[in-house]
Amino acid sequence: MLAGLRGVLANARAEKTAIAAFNVPNLEMVRAAIQAAEELERPVILQHAQGHDSLIPLEEIGPIMLDYAKRSNVPVVVHLDHGKSFDAIVRAMKMGFTSVMIDASDLPFEENIARTKEIVKIAHSLGISVEAELGHVFTSSLGGGEGRAPDDEKIGETDIYTDPKQAKQFVAETNADCLAIAFGTVHGIYLKEPKLDLNRVKQVYEEVGIPLVMHGGSGVSEEDYQIAIDNGITKINYYTYANKAGAAALAHYLAQHSKEYFLEDCVEMTTKALKSDYQKAINSFNRGATSY
Ligand code: 13P
Repeated sequence: MLAGLRGVLANARAEKTAIAAFNVPNLEMVRAAIQAAEELERPVILQHAQGHDSLIPLEEIGPIMLDYAKRSNVPVVVHLDHGKSFDAIVRAMKMGFTSVMIDASDLPFEENIARTKEIVKIAHSLGISVEAELGHVFTSSLGGGEGRAPDDEKIGETDIYTDPKQAKQFVAETNADCLAIAFGTVHGIYLKEPKLDLNRVKQVYEEVGIPLVMHGGSGVSEEDYQIAIDNGITKINYYTYANKAGAAALAHYLAQHSKEYFLEDCVEMTTKALKSDYQKAINSFNRGATSY
C-alpha cells in the first residue's frame, strides 16, 4: 500500500529501527525492492533521485514506482530524492509521490531555510512529507550519481558536518519532517574505510528530535549502522553497493555460462541478486522488529 513517510518513520523510530530507502532507476530495482520488502514483511521507501533523470526520467519511472507501491501488501513510501529544482519537486508531488526531498544544502544557510520552507508549505498543504538537508555529504568519483559532482580529495574533511545548533534552528524555522545530515558518509563507493562521527548524529538528534537520514548508506559496516540507528538515524539511503552487487552477479553468471546468452535470463538473475542484497540491508536496519 502507498504510505506516507512521517508515519513510517515514526513507527521505525519507536522500535529503534531504520527504513531502507532504495534508489530504483529501472524496473528490475523496483521489482527487487518490493519483493525484498514483502518477503520480510517490512515497510520500504522507493526513491527516485532527480540526478537519475539521465538514466530514466521521473515521468517514466514515477508511475511505475507508484503502481508497485499501491499493489504491495507492505507500506511503501514513494519519495523524490535530492530534489534540486522547484519544478521537479512540484512534478513529483503532482504525480502522487508521498514524500519529497528538497536539497538546498549547497546554498548558504539562510537560503537553504528559505527554499526548504517554501517546499514544506506546499507539501504539507497536500499531506506530503519533506526531507531537507543540512551539511554536505561528499560524493566519490566511483558511483554516487544520485548525489553531487565527485569531490574525492575533500572526503574526510569534517568542517562540512552538520552543526547541531544550526540544525535546531533549521528545523524550527522550516518544519521539515526529517533531516539528512553530514557525519562522514559518502555517496558512491568508499575509496577508504569510512570514519563516521556517530556522536554527531546523537548531538543533532538531541537538538532536533525529528528522524535523521543517512545518505551514502551503502558500504557502511553493520556496527556503524546499529550505532547510527541508536543515535537517531531512521531512514537509510542505499544505492551504490546494490548496483554493484547486481552487476557483479551478472558478470559471474556470464563467466560461468559460455554458450548462448539470453537477456531474459540475465534480467532474472540480476533481479534475484538485487533482492538478496536489499534483504541484507533491510535486515541490517531492522534488528528483529516485525510490526508495522
Ligand atoms: P549510496 O549510493 O552511496 O548508497 O547513497 C545513496 C544515497 O544517499 C541516495 O541519496
